[in-house]
Amino acid sequence: MLQGKYGELLEKIRFLFNEDKNAAMSSVRRLIANEKIPIDGCFGLANEFHLIQEFDIAEAIISISADKFGFRRPFGSGHNRPLEGHNFAFYQSIQSFQAYNYYARVRSAECGGIDVYYTNDLLGGGQDFGQDYINVISEKIGPVERIFEWCCGPAFIGFSLLGTGLCHSLCLADINPKAIEAVKHTLRRNDLTRNVDVYISDSLKSIPDNEKWDLVVGNPPMAGDQSQEFPGPQRLSIDTAWKAHRNFFGRLSLHLNTNGIAVIQEAKNLSTAETFVPLVENTSLEIFDVTDNRILDDIYYIWLRLKC
Ligand SMILES: C[S@@+](CC[C@H](N)C(=O)[O-])C[C@H]1O[C@@H](n2cnc3c(N)ncnc32)[C@H](O)[C@@H]1O
Repeated sequence: MLQGKYGELLEKIRFLFNEDKNAAMSSVRRLIANEKIPIDGCFGLANEFHLIQEFDIAEAIISISADKFGFRRPFGSGHNRPLEGHNFAFYQSIQSFQAYNYYARVRSAECGGIDVYYTNDLLGGGQDFGQDYINVISEKIGPVERIFEWCCGPAFIGFSLLGTGLCHSLCLADINPKAIEAVKHTLRRNDLTRNVDVYISDSLKSIPDNEKWDLVVGNPPMAGDQSQEFPGPQRLSIDTAWKAHRNFFGRLSLHLNTNGIAVIQEAKNLSTAETFVPLVENTSLEIFDVTDNRILDDIYYIWLRLKC
């Protein structure tokens, strides 16, 4: 947590926002001007709020500092060159990108107009090979009533499926409270709260019994041990001794509707469908198909359904 002048400022800003959100904007604007906070200081402050999951305050500070320092969104990268080859816009400034690794907005046709908020430490591939679900579900299954995204992170997959009309409602869960905060931010920003339920849950442990799904998707951590190194936080990649998978397969049948299907992404260099047979064999589920991901060769899908 910030110390000294910035620490005090952080507490003041927090207090102002808790008192009255609307009035806080102009007070914070004045405070930042009076204290002569430089651009990196502003981004640093926003980052602190971001780390404690006060996303609205973080965004307000970004917006105030962007106005104050004349940045326009999307801020330029390097020497004010726009980011190329990506369909998202990073909030960044020339000096501050490293200090302020802020979330980005995804805008793409696949998301059906839904802006999905995330931070880099939450990114697990759903924005990339995860989007192959749109192909798979539209070609092989078609629209369903309710989808669950297991290990959702920022829920790029679930929101894309909702946004493209491949489901009417969505259930999302992840063990990481920060991912769920990002999801809630996306819901507020896109006015989606009616059709989406969100849970912090270790696999399916905290999902209420009355949750029932027609389709389950997800790109969980895909390594069953720590023998390889992966970039980013371990929870993105490692599921030690397949603990989360075991719980998922063990409880899934409680939540699947009669003709429900689960289509789960895994990594070819870390498992095969055989790996999961022992985890499934004492359940009411069966693996009935294995298919390839068309965006990334290294990824495959296992298809599960209730045994007849
Ligand atoms: C590969 S990432 C995928 C995240 C997201 N779907 C994406 O593509 O950006 C794996 C996700 O699983 C979550 N996770 C790890 N262990 C979990 C567990 N036991 N229960 C629920 N979620 C878990 C992590 O927090 C992370 O968000």
